[in-house]
Amino acid sequence: MSAAVTARAPAKVNLVLKVGDPRPDGFHELATVFAAVGLEEQVSVADGPAGVRVTVDGEGARRVPIGPANLAARAVRALADVTGIDLSIRGVDVAIRKRVPVAAGLAGGSADAAATLVALDALWGTALDGERLRVLAAGLGSDVPFGLVGGTAVGTGRGHLLDPVVGPGNYSWVLAFAAGELSTPRVFAELDRMRAAAPGGDPAVGAPGPGAPTVSPVLLDALRTGDAPAVGELLDNDLQAPALSLMPSLRACLQVGSERGALGAVVSGSGPTCAFLAADSGHGADLAAALTAAGVCRAAVSVPGPVTGASLLA
Ligand code: C5P
Repeated sequence: MSAAVTARAPAKVNLVLKVGDPRPDGFHELATVFAAVGLEEQVSVADGPAGVRVTVDGEGARRVPIGPANLAARAVRALADVTGIDLSIRGVDVAIRKRVPVAAGLAGGSADAAATLVALDALWGTALDGERLRVLAAGLGSDVPFGLVGGTAVGTGRGHLLDPVVGPGNYSWVLAFAAGELSTPRVFAELDRMRAAAPGGDPAVGAPGPGAPTVSPVLLDALRTGDAPAVGELLDNDLQAPALSLMPSLRACLQVGSERGALGAVVSGSGPTCAFLAADSGHGADLAAALTAAGVCRAAVSVPGPVTGASLLA
């Protein structure tokens, strides 16, 4: 029996998220800029009896399914399938230590899957290259490939086709966690509903427009030069209006952050976490305290970004 192997993987925020029309497969064509932030999941894998067992502790652990639908369990089966490992002979115990809230728009489940792939590849000595891991990851969920890659990257397609953005910026983010959850499919469906209800174009939800959505080159320039005020001003998420429609209380959270000097404020992904860009880590700590004290969120943390993608822990 070999010892457990542990990997970490980051949460993400979407600096920009432009959503196109729904596709025949039910997904929406996206153009997004992902940024990996210093709020991380840890996953340990170890040889065990036949099959896959998942345990979860930490933030929101009781709300995470531990059966076959768990993204880490799906990652184990996907890696076993492509490497020919028979789980009825060589079983796996997976232990997830969560810090990223569940269904929060931060891709915590995707981080679990990414960390599982990296840890298990090491445990089994299967040594898959980055490209094969990314293909496996894309089959598990739209945000899983970014969990592997980390840093800052433009995502297109379902969000799974990645192009890194390199720049000098080290940013301070504040993540304000909401009391409730938002289901990603429900937020996309609400966007479709709002767009259908305003066929002439509702500025809050933006018309998808012809062709695939794109990311503004102005934001990419700001990221390449590390211009934090410009990055803050350009934060933009098509899923924000539907998230606010489903959870109107988020408006107050965004407003308090803006009043307290955030360089930018945006709902993260499909929400309900609100992300704020702070001027520096001291401002981030003050902002997190102010948001919590104002009672507009369940909790708030100040974290750095960008951070690296999934990696083994010594
Ligand atoms: O890929 P993932 O499992 O993270 O997606 C969760 C859900 O979010 C999808 O089932 C779909 O309803 C919605 N989604 C979408 N378009 C995308 C990504 C996700 O409609 N590009």
